[in-house]
Amino acid sequence: MIAIAIDGPAGAGKSTIARRAAAELGYIYVDTGALYRAVGLFMIKKGISPSDSAAVCPLLEQVQIRLAFQNGEQKVLLGNGDVTGEIRTPEVSMAASDVSAIPEVRTFLFSLQQNIAKTNNVVMDGRDIGTVVLPNAQVKIFLTASPEERAKRRFAEMKEKGEPVVFEEVLADLKKRDYNDSHRTVAPLVPAETAIVVDTTGNTLEQSVEKLLSIIKSNL
Ligand code: C5P
Repeated sequence: MIAIAIDGPAGAGKSTIARRAAAELGYIYVDTGALYRAVGLFMIKKGISPSDSAAVCPLLEQVQIRLAFQNGEQKVLLGNGDVTGEIRTPEVSMAASDVSAIPEVRTFLFSLQQNIAKTNNVVMDGRDIGTVVLPNAQVKIFLTASPEERAKRRFAEMKEKGEPVVFEEVLADLKKRDYNDSHRTVAPLVPAETAIVVDTTGNTLEQSVEKLLSIIKSNL
Protein backbone atom coordinates (compact mmCIF):
# COMPACT_ATOMS: atom_id res chain seq x y z
CA MET A 1 0.00 0.00 0.00
CA ILE A 2 1.11 3.56 -0.61
CA ALA A 3 0.73 6.28 2.02
CA ILE A 4 1.23 10.01 1.60
CA ALA A 5 1.36 11.87 4.94
CA ILE A 6 0.41 15.53 4.97
CA ASP A 7 0.81 17.42 8.23
CA GLY A 8 0.67 21.07 9.14
CA PRO A 9 -1.14 23.73 11.18
CA ALA A 10 -4.82 24.64 10.96
CA GLY A 11 -5.80 26.53 7.83
CA ALA A 12 -2.69 25.70 5.77
CA GLY A 13 -4.98 24.30 3.08
CA LYS A 14 -4.18 20.68 3.90
CA SER A 15 -7.66 19.25 3.39
CA THR A 16 -8.45 21.01 0.11
CA ILE A 17 -5.03 20.32 -1.36
CA ALA A 18 -4.81 16.74 -0.03
CA ARG A 19 -8.31 15.93 -1.32
CA ARG A 20 -7.40 17.15 -4.79
CA ALA A 21 -4.10 15.27 -4.79
CA ALA A 22 -5.85 12.05 -3.68
CA ALA A 23 -8.39 12.38 -6.48
CA GLU A 24 -5.59 12.81 -9.05
CA LEU A 25 -3.73 9.77 -7.73
CA GLY A 26 -6.85 7.63 -7.27
CA TYR A 27 -6.17 7.21 -3.53
CA ILE A 28 -8.52 7.62 -0.59
CA TYR A 29 -8.31 10.97 1.19
CA VAL A 30 -8.41 10.64 4.99
CA ASP A 31 -8.95 13.75 7.10
CA THR A 32 -7.83 12.68 10.60
CA GLY A 33 -8.81 16.00 12.18
CA ALA A 34 -12.41 14.86 11.69
CA LEU A 35 -11.80 12.01 14.15
CA TYR A 36 -10.62 14.41 16.87
CA ARG A 37 -13.55 16.66 16.03
CA ALA A 38 -15.97 13.73 16.44
CA VAL A 39 -14.52 12.94 19.88
CA GLY A 40 -14.80 16.65 20.79
CA LEU A 41 -18.41 16.78 19.61
CA PHE A 42 -19.26 13.65 21.60
CA MET A 43 -17.93 15.29 24.80
CA ILE A 44 -19.81 18.54 24.12
CA LYS A 45 -23.01 16.55 23.68
CA LYS A 46 -22.38 14.77 26.98
CA GLY A 47 -21.89 18.16 28.68
CA ILE A 48 -18.25 17.41 29.48
CA SER A 49 -15.39 19.87 29.22
CA PRO A 50 -13.15 18.54 26.39
CA SER A 51 -10.00 19.48 28.33
CA ASP A 52 -11.02 17.56 31.46
CA SER A 53 -9.13 14.34 30.87
CA ALA A 54 -10.49 12.68 34.04
CA ALA A 55 -14.00 13.09 32.64
CA VAL A 56 -13.15 12.44 28.97
CA CYS A 57 -11.17 9.18 29.34
CA PRO A 58 -13.84 7.00 30.98
CA LEU A 59 -16.27 7.97 28.23
CA LEU A 60 -14.01 6.95 25.35
CA GLU A 61 -15.30 3.37 25.39
CA GLN A 62 -18.74 4.72 24.47
CA VAL A 63 -17.43 6.63 21.45
CA GLN A 64 -18.16 4.82 18.20
CA ILE A 65 -16.58 6.53 15.22
CA ARG A 66 -16.52 5.18 11.71
CA LEU A 67 -15.27 6.75 8.52
CA ALA A 68 -17.15 5.85 5.35
CA PHE A 69 -15.80 6.64 1.89
CA GLN A 70 -18.12 7.37 -1.02
CA ASN A 71 -16.59 8.41 -4.33
CA GLY A 72 -13.44 9.40 -2.47
CA GLU A 73 -15.41 11.61 -0.06
CA GLN A 74 -15.13 10.95 3.64
CA LYS A 75 -18.23 10.75 5.84
CA VAL A 76 -17.91 10.76 9.62
CA LEU A 77 -20.32 8.60 11.57
CA LEU A 78 -20.66 9.01 15.33
CA GLY A 79 -22.82 6.20 16.71
CA ASN A 80 -25.57 5.96 14.12
CA GLY A 81 -25.53 9.62 13.12
CA ASP A 82 -23.73 11.33 10.23
CA VAL A 83 -21.86 14.25 11.86
CA THR A 84 -19.82 15.26 8.79
CA GLY A 85 -21.33 18.78 8.81
CA GLU A 86 -21.85 19.18 12.53
CA ILE A 87 -18.13 18.82 13.37
CA ARG A 88 -17.19 21.95 11.40
CA THR A 89 -18.17 24.65 13.91
CA PRO A 90 -15.59 26.83 15.74
CA GLU A 91 -16.79 25.33 19.05
CA VAL A 92 -15.99 21.82 17.84
CA SER A 93 -12.61 23.00 16.41
CA MET A 94 -11.55 24.12 19.86
CA ALA A 95 -12.97 20.97 21.51
CA ALA A 96 -10.97 18.85 19.03
CA SER A 97 -7.80 20.74 19.88
CA ASP A 98 -8.49 20.19 23.61
CA VAL A 99 -9.21 16.44 23.42
CA SER A 100 -6.25 15.93 21.10
CA ALA A 101 -3.86 16.83 23.94
CA ILE A 102 -5.11 13.85 25.98
CA PRO A 103 -2.80 10.85 25.37
CA GLU A 104 -5.64 8.31 25.78
CA VAL A 105 -7.62 10.02 23.02
CA ARG A 106 -4.65 9.78 20.66
CA THR A 107 -4.16 6.07 21.48
CA PHE A 108 -7.88 5.50 20.98
CA LEU A 109 -7.75 6.96 17.45
CA PHE A 110 -4.37 5.52 16.49
CA SER A 111 -5.41 2.05 15.31
CA LEU A 112 -8.43 3.40 13.46
CA GLN A 113 -6.10 5.58 11.38
CA GLN A 114 -3.51 2.85 10.86
CA ASN A 115 -6.11 0.28 9.80
CA ILE A 116 -7.41 2.48 7.00
CA ALA A 117 -3.87 2.77 5.60
CA LYS A 118 -3.33 -0.99 5.84
CA THR A 119 -6.01 -1.71 3.27
CA ASN A 120 -6.04 1.40 1.09
CA ASN A 121 -3.66 3.68 -0.74
CA VAL A 122 -4.11 6.93 1.18
CA VAL A 123 -3.39 10.59 1.30
CA MET A 124 -3.82 11.19 5.03
CA ASP A 125 -3.77 14.62 6.60
CA GLY A 126 -3.34 15.66 10.22
CA ARG A 127 -0.74 16.83 12.70
CA ASP A 128 1.25 13.66 13.49
CA ILE A 129 0.76 11.44 10.46
CA GLY A 130 4.37 11.46 9.27
CA THR A 131 5.80 11.39 12.80
CA VAL A 132 3.53 8.93 14.65
CA VAL A 133 0.64 7.38 12.72
CA LEU A 134 2.37 6.42 9.45
CA PRO A 135 6.11 6.73 10.10
CA ASN A 136 6.76 4.56 7.04
CA ALA A 137 4.77 6.74 4.65
CA GLN A 138 6.45 6.87 1.23
CA VAL A 139 6.11 10.66 1.04
CA LYS A 140 5.82 13.10 3.95
CA ILE A 141 4.84 16.70 3.43
CA PHE A 142 4.59 19.48 5.99
CA LEU A 143 2.25 22.11 4.61
CA THR A 144 2.28 25.55 6.17
CA ALA A 145 1.53 29.24 5.58
CA SER A 146 1.73 32.41 7.69
CA PRO A 147 -0.90 32.71 10.48
CA GLU A 148 -2.40 35.81 8.82
CA GLU A 149 -2.75 34.07 5.47
CA ARG A 150 -4.29 30.99 7.09
CA ALA A 151 -6.74 33.12 9.08
CA LYS A 152 -7.65 35.05 5.91
CA ARG A 153 -8.51 31.80 4.11
CA ARG A 154 -10.52 30.43 7.04
CA PHE A 155 -12.36 33.77 7.38
CA ALA A 156 -13.29 33.80 3.68
CA GLU A 157 -14.49 30.19 3.88
CA MET A 158 -16.73 30.88 6.88
CA LYS A 159 -18.07 34.09 5.41
CA GLU A 160 -19.00 32.29 2.23
CA LYS A 161 -21.00 29.83 4.30
CA GLY A 162 -22.87 32.82 5.75
CA GLU A 163 -21.44 32.41 9.25
CA PRO A 164 -21.13 35.55 11.38
CA VAL A 165 -17.35 35.90 11.81
CA VAL A 166 -14.85 38.51 12.96
CA PHE A 167 -11.38 38.29 11.40
CA GLU A 168 -9.55 39.03 14.67
CA GLU A 169 -11.41 36.17 16.37
CA VAL A 170 -10.53 33.74 13.59
CA LEU A 171 -6.86 34.76 13.84
CA ALA A 172 -6.85 34.50 17.65
CA ASP A 173 -8.53 31.06 17.54
CA LEU A 174 -6.04 29.83 14.99
CA LYS A 175 -3.04 31.07 16.98
CA LYS A 176 -4.43 29.42 20.11
CA ARG A 177 -4.86 26.12 18.29
CA ASP A 178 -1.35 26.43 16.80
CA TYR A 179 0.00 26.92 20.29
CA ASN A 180 -1.98 23.99 21.75
CA ASP A 181 -1.04 21.68 18.89
CA SER A 182 2.67 22.44 18.92
CA HIS A 183 3.13 22.55 22.72
CA ARG A 184 1.31 19.42 23.82
CA THR A 185 3.53 16.68 25.25
CA VAL A 186 2.20 13.84 23.10
CA ALA A 187 2.59 13.96 19.34
CA PRO A 188 3.17 17.71 19.07
CA LEU A 189 2.88 19.34 15.67
CA VAL A 190 6.40 19.22 14.24
CA PRO A 191 7.62 18.31 10.76
CA ALA A 192 8.84 14.70 10.47
CA GLU A 193 12.60 14.53 9.99
CA THR A 194 12.23 13.54 6.36
CA ALA A 195 9.21 15.75 5.61
CA ILE A 196 9.36 18.16 2.69
CA VAL A 197 8.20 21.55 3.99
CA VAL A 198 5.91 23.45 1.61
CA ASP A 199 4.93 27.04 2.45
CA THR A 200 1.75 27.98 0.58
CA THR A 201 1.76 31.69 1.56
CA GLY A 202 0.90 33.72 -1.52
CA ASN A 203 0.07 30.67 -3.65
CA THR A 204 -3.24 30.04 -5.33
CA LEU A 205 -4.91 26.72 -4.63
CA GLU A 206 -3.99 25.54 -8.14
CA GLN A 207 -0.32 26.37 -7.60
CA SER A 208 -0.26 24.50 -4.28
CA VAL A 209 -1.97 21.41 -5.75
CA GLU A 210 0.49 21.38 -8.67
CA LYS A 211 3.45 21.74 -6.34
CA LEU A 212 2.26 18.95 -4.07
CA LEU A 213 1.53 16.59 -6.94
CA SER A 214 4.94 17.16 -8.46
CA ILE A 215 6.64 16.49 -5.09
CA ILE A 216 4.57 13.34 -4.55
CA LYS A 217 5.17 12.00 -8.05
CA SER A 218 8.89 12.63 -7.94
CA ASN A 219 9.20 10.91 -4.55
CA LEU A 220 7.11 7.80 -5.23
O1 C5P B 1 -7.36 19.40 10.94
P1 C5P B 1 -8.42 19.96 11.85
O2 C5P B 1 -8.33 21.43 12.05
O3 C5P B 1 -9.79 19.51 11.47
O4 C5P B 1 -8.13 19.27 13.27
C1 C5P B 1 -8.81 19.62 14.44
C2 C5P B 1 -7.89 19.47 15.64
O5 C5P B 1 -7.60 18.08 15.83
C3 C5P B 1 -6.53 20.14 15.49
O6 C5P B 1 -6.50 21.45 16.00
C4 C5P B 1 -5.61 19.25 16.30
O7 C5P B 1 -5.59 19.67 17.63
C5 C5P B 1 -6.26 17.90 16.28
N1 C5P B 1 -5.57 16.93 15.42
C6 C5P B 1 -4.52 16.23 15.94
N2 C5P B 1 -3.89 15.26 15.21
C7 C5P B 1 -4.30 14.99 13.96
C8 C5P B 1 -5.36 15.73 13.38
C9 C5P B 1 -5.98 16.71 14.14
O8 C5P B 1 -4.13 16.47 17.08
N3 C5P B 1 -3.69 14.02 13.28
